[in-house]
Amino acid sequence: MQSLLKDQTAEKHRIAERKPFNMRMFKGELNQQAYLHYLEQQLAIFTALEQHPLPHPSLNRIESISADIQELETAGALRKGELTATTTYKNYLSGLTPSEQLPHIYLHYLAIAYGGQIMKTKVPSKGLFYDFHNFEACILSIRQIQQDSWVNEVNKGYDAIINIFDALEATLLETTKIIEHA
Ligand code: HEM
Repeated sequence: MQSLLKDQTAEKHRIAERKPFNMRMFKGELNQQAYLHYLEQQLAIFTALEQHPLPHPSLNRIESISADIQELETAGALRKGELTATTTYKNYLSGLTPSEQLPHIYLHYLAIAYGGQIMKTKVPSKGLFYDFHNFEACILSIRQIQQDSWVNEVNKGYDAIINIFDALEATLLETTKIIEHA
């Protein structure tokens, strides 16, 4: 679906998509530990977005992310905690009114609805995060409300997720260094 919103946020989409951590995830190169760290950040974001009713009830992600986290913990992966970049974004989202949060809902739910269907086959878990009941209705509920005037706010959301990808990559490189020197 072509729109001014998509056009004017396309550059940041490209930057986010090409972040090293995201590329690793997309190539199926993340181990369970690194993927768990990613899911911890996603849980913080989606929890901030799910304090108010969503455009469609089947969009809700808290349960599916928590189930994926549980699966990884059962397999022995450990939580590493919320990154500062995530806390900053989470606090920003929590300060928005329900209608001010809508651009961020567009951003995060369409991200997993689209890129996520391939991602599901690449991540080291069942990937319940990417499964939607009523998939078409979920997408439609966002498409029906999206507005071109959301450009700035959506781009702010991309900046936040880009910072989070950078912080995840930094943690991954740090962990690799520690393992190499052990
Ligand atoms: C490997 C990573 C990714 C891939 C392969 C990917 C792929 C895609 C594709 C193919 C579409 C277009 C769907 C269509 O027009 O029919 C799309 C749309 C979208 N993606 Fe991504 N994406 C990725 C990462 C991300 C990330 C990290 C975000 C933000 C958190 C994001 C947010 C969005 C949004 C908001 C749209 C909807 C744009 C619109 O049509 O209005 N994507 N993505």
